[in-house]
Amino acid sequence: MGGLPRAPRPPRAPPARKPGKLPGRQPAIPEGRPIVVALPKGRVLGAAIELFGRAGYQLDAVQEESRRLVHDCGPIVALVLRSGDVPTYVEYGAADVGVAGRDVLEEEERDLYEPLDLGIGACRLVLAEPASRPVDLSSHMHLRVATKYPVLTRRYLEERGVAAEIIKLSGSVELGPLTGLSDRIVDLVETGETLRQNGLLEVETIMEVTCRLVVNPASLKLRGPALAVLIDRLAAAVEARREL
Ligand code: PRP
Repeated sequence: MGGLPRAPRPPRAPPARKPGKLPGRQPAIPEGRPIVVALPKGRVLGAAIELFGRAGYQLDAVQEESRRLVHDCGPIVALVLRSGDVPTYVEYGAADVGVAGRDVLEEEERDLYEPLDLGIGACRLVLAEPASRPVDLSSHMHLRVATKYPVLTRRYLEERGVAAEIIKLSGSVELGPLTGLSDRIVDLVETGETLRQNGLLEVETIMEVTCRLVVNPASLKLRGPALAVLIDRLAAAVEARREL
C-alpha cells in the first residue's frame, strides 16, 4: 500500500462487466493480501454494507464497532471515511477500491476507474432558494450561492449565463439563505426534509446522483483477477437488488 504514482487519466467508464450469476463456493478473493475498500460514513454506509453482503462479503464488523475506522473483514479490509475523502484514498492507492457519490466524483476530477454504478445513495443535486424570498434574475442583483460543490455550481451557472458569487461551505448549507449569507444554495436532496424544515424550495435539479464503485488504476493492473471477482460479484448484487 502507500502512495502509488499517479496513473495517466484513464477513460472514465471502462466496459461494464455483464452481471452474471454469483460465483458459487469459490473464495471471494484469490490468494494474496485483502482488498482494501474505502466506504463513506453516514447515510450510505448501511446500504453499502448490505450490497457487499449480497455480493458475498460480510462487512457486519463495520457497523458493530462504530468508532473503529479500519475493519478486518476476511478477504476485505474496510476503511470508513468521510464521503468526500474516498476518491483521495483510492487515487493514492491507500485503498484499492471505494464507494463514492457521483457528486464528489464530478466535483473533483480524479484518476479513477468507475466500472459500476452501485445504485445506492440515490439523491439529487439541486438549486434551491427561500420560499419567502425567490430570486428575481431580471433584477440584476448581486447573487450569492452557497454550496459544498463550487465546481459543479460554477459550471451550472455558467451554462445558464447567470453571474453569481459562489460561497464554499462544508456542511449545513441550508443555513446560508436563513442567515443572509447567500440568496440560493446548491446542495444534495434525498427526502427533501431538510429543505422543507428550513423553508427552502427547489428551483431546479442539476444532477441525479448515485454511488459508484471506483478503482485505483494501478490496483487494477496489479490485482486484476482479484478485483474482477469483486466487480463481478458486486455487479450481480446490484442486479439482484434492482429486481427486488
Ligand atoms: C445532506 C445534504 C442535505 C441533506 C439532505 O446533508 O447536504 O443537507 O443531507 O437530505 P434530505 O433531503 O433527506 O433532508 P448531510 O446530512 O450529509 O449533512 P451536511 O449538511 O453536514 O453535509
